[in-house]
Amino acid sequence: SDMSSTKNSMNIFWHECPIQKLNRQQLLQQKGCVIWLTGLSGSGKSTLACALSISLHSKGKLTYILDGDNIRHGLNRDLNFRAEDRSENIRRIGEVAKLLADAGVICITSLISPYRKDRDACRALLPKGDFIEVFIDVPLDVCEARDPKGLYKLARAGKIKGFTGIDDPYEPPYNCEIVLQQKGNECMSPSVTAGIVISYLE
Ligand code: PPS
Repeated sequence: SDMSSTKNSMNIFWHECPIQKLNRQQLLQQKGCVIWLTGLSGSGKSTLACALSISLHSKGKLTYILDGDNIRHGLNRDLNFRAEDRSENIRRIGEVAKLLADAGVICITSLISPYRKDRDACRALLPKGDFIEVFIDVPLDVCEARDPKGLYKLARAGKIKGFTGIDDPYEPPYNCEIVLQQKGNECMSPSVTAGIVISYLE
């Protein structure tokens, strides 16, 4: 059991229920885990998250997407894009992802998560093997050419400060489970990339 949140000094105690992750997994006939998508803005994280969710759902698997953009409307509405806010964004989503995985859900996260140490901290929250980091490796110039929200243009014009890849760093993973590397300008098909991730899960 997870005692990491026990804080006796503050009179807060961990409470254990006999119904545990294993029981929930038996009920759902699946293994809870976190599929952590990381990559630049416009690399296709949300598209892949959705393709994965559709495909797994059709196989009878319960999934849930935590999308950075969406969660910034609610839980993380108080956060901006300064380094410490991004870290907090990632930390909170990591904690929620951990809860969902513990609930037995296949949780798919879709946020830039540009800093290696923050991603590694989320990985450390989960049992070994339950955190599957997927790097969507699309070159900056390709993402910039796509510019689906027009944000790269604004960043280049200096109208957005600290944009990932322009004037804020993106740190690629050293040792992630899956790299989806786009070569040249040929877009990766979401059904193909979703298939790669699902084969890995199987
Ligand atoms: S992070 O770095 O993981 O906390 O970012 P995330 O929560 O995924 O949010 C990224 C989306 O916010 C928009 N946006 C920015 N991105 C990067 N840098 C700056 N300064 C910024 N300002 C706004 C952008 O639309 C990102 O969308 P995606 O879905 O990644 O394309």
